[in-house]
Amino acid sequence: MTTPGAVIVDAVAYAQAVEDAVKASAAYYAAGTSGLDDDAYDRLVRAIAVWEAEHPEQVLADSPTGKVAGGAVEGDVPHTAPMLSLDNVFSPEEFTAWTASLTRRIGREAARYSVEPKLDGLAIAARYTRGRLTRLITRGDGTAGEDVSHAIGTVVGLPDELAEPVTVEVRGEVLMTTEQFEHANEVRTAHGGAPFANPRNAAAGTLRARERAYTVPMTFFGYGLLPLADTEPAAAETLAQCAHSELMARAAAYGVNTTATTAVPGVTADTVDEVLARVTEIAALRASLPFGIDGIVVKADLAADQQAAGSGSRAPRWATAYKLRAVEKITRLLAVEWNVGRTGIIAPRAVLEPVEIDGSTITYATLHNPADITRRDLRLGDHVMVHRAGDVIPRVEAPVAHLRTGDEQPIVFPETCPRCGSGIDTGEQRWRCENGRDCHLVASLSYAAGRDQLDIEGLGHTRVVQLVEAGLVADLADLFALTREQLLGLERMGETSTDNLLAAIGAAKAQPLSRVLCALGVRGTGRSMSRRIARYFATMDHLRAADAEAIQQVDGIGTEKAPSIVAELVELAPLIDKLAAAGVNMTEPGATPPAPPTTTTETAEGGGEVEGDGSEGAHAAEVAGGAEVAGGALAGMTVVVTGAMTGALEKLSRNQMNELIERAGGRSSSSVSKKTTLVVAGENAGSKRVKAESLGIRLATPDEFAALVADHLDSAP
Ligand code: IVH
Repeated sequence: MTTPGAVIVDAVAYAQAVEDAVKASAAYYAAGTSGLDDDAYDRLVRAIAVWEAEHPEQVLADSPTGKVAGGAVEGDVPHTAPMLSLDNVFSPEEFTAWTASLTRRIGREAARYSVEPKLDGLAIAARYTRGRLTRLITRGDGTAGEDVSHAIGTVVGLPDELAEPVTVEVRGEVLMTTEQFEHANEVRTAHGGAPFANPRNAAAGTLRARERAYTVPMTFFGYGLLPLADTEPAAAETLAQCAHSELMARAAAYGVNTTATTAVPGVTADTVDEVLARVTEIAALRASLPFGIDGIVVKADLAADQQAAGSGSRAPRWATAYKLRAVEKITRLLAVEWNVGRTGIIAPRAVLEPVEIDGSTITYATLHNPADITRRDLRLGDHVMVHRAGDVIPRVEAPVAHLRTGDEQPIVFPETCPRCGSGIDTGEQRWRCENGRDCHLVASLSYAAGRDQLDIEGLGHTRVVQLVEAGLVADLADLFALTREQLLGLERMGETSTDNLLAAIGAAKAQPLSRVLCALGVRGTGRSMSRRIARYFATMDHLRAADAEAIQQVDGIGTEKAPSIVAELVELAPLIDKLAAAGVNMTEPGATPPAPPTTTTETAEGGGEVEGDGSEGAHAAEVAGGAEVAGGALAGMTVVVTGAMTGALEKLSRNQMNELIERAGGRSSSSVSKKTTLVVAGENAGSKRVKAESLGIRLATPDEFAALVADHLDSAP
């Protein structure tokens, strides 16, 4: 196989490259899988095009540059008008050059552009006769496609009946949202099938599958509307005169799903700069979208401009795809490491042949849990599809099964804890060392001492290792029993550092319950969940007295998490008792315990104003919303912080910002959605700010926000 991206040196290499590209494209369109990821395919085709430009007389007939992409499947339904592909640009410069060539063709600048996401699925034509969906056809070779009408009824966004009895063809992309993809793989593997490598392969495979015992939903987004042979001539003429943006509005009015329903709706732009600004916005939102996009499609919006520009045999000249960097690449799985975390969880991690994805070199990727490895049928030496979007930890999606050579080896699961040699509790999906959080004491203590937990300055990783190795601490509570002499006996511990460390440990005893809970590392609860629990229960005693049902009153804790939190607290009971005996605070300042679920009126401990009146649900709802600080400046608000804080907030960590928001009666969140009320955007704020702007959410600078919560600022822990 040619190395994708390599320069083609001679006719032999050129022929090989064409063969590889044709094979990859055929495999992809036939089976929904390909041995080349998108990026490698694009690079191969570009190298082919470069060579062809220099050797025009030697261009092979089946070169992927000369024909409609993906023309490998025999189709039996002719298309009304060719289903074309798109040319690509990869940079602002290339895009600007494209607009210049468009201007030359039209004889003036395009009056307006339409800019929409390039959805990462499969092109499909949906024919409606007098408003009823009659036929679904794949793109095929662009002139004829395969009839996949059996999929009617499984594609969300393609209604069986339009809002008007029109005879039209809707064109668009069929894809699987992340949720649909996960569901599809669950159903497929439950039926003994191999999981799909990614949502696009899953959509391709699902669309073409005829006799399956199960159906899984997909989603459609329309990007074209055109007349059919039997469309009324006047109606056909109207469609031919409509701007692309008008066609999309019409399609939506008929009840067809379009990008208008997403966080990245199609928009129109009057200038090249406006287009480029929108490209940046969509790129920034990409990682947070519930479906895959691989670029942005820019079209001359007006029908007149499109007609003046015309089309080539492969692609229209009035549209181009501004490709974004791939978030998926194929690489090799070299090894699997089993790491023990601070709570004793034994997690598998893939060691990969280093691969560059979206600007970073990826060497490790998460493999979730052993069951997942089995379900995906991963083997050492496999080619695997690796996905990395935004700041999320890269993950191995699936093996590329048809690239197997037979030399792949099974992945060996550990039989004993790889860290301490104890047995492994395999009762749950995530395996755990039977020694639990004591297995990796250094990790759990370092975490507990961290800035967002007990914030014990001077107790970094190295110091924790020293303490554990010297046998001075065997659990978190032992920290509070350390003596001056013991510390002075350690290497590199002078009088000053000893006194400082003792003072920091002493101060940690006063941390609020939320931080103590977080330091304990209750599985399934991170920083913000620990805060919600602490605010709801107000004291450790109330929390420990709660059963699973009571714990579910806390926002974000459902039927699955509640019993595991109860079990964790039982497991941690001796440690909690030991901490309390050492004088560690077990209450949450400012919070009021929940009223007991009785009809008798009694004053709640520590609070005074909240009385049990039998309306436990109402109280729970109020607290769960994080609004228990009555009249707080942020009461009822959901606030997201992004970018670097400055001014009065400069020294606050993200966790401290979230604590501040909650002290002021608000709810902190890490992601922007329609529910967000305010986004505090500091310096270098990126995609969250963009998303807030696109959703019309109120923005505040760090200074404005500091003024808003001034009353709560001083009480920072
Ligand atoms: S317009 C004649 N708009 O990208 C114009 N295509 O690489 C061709 N695609 O075949 C289609 N999102 O399957 C258009 N918003 C969008 C699109 C889009 C995804 C696909 C489509 C096309 C392929 C070309």
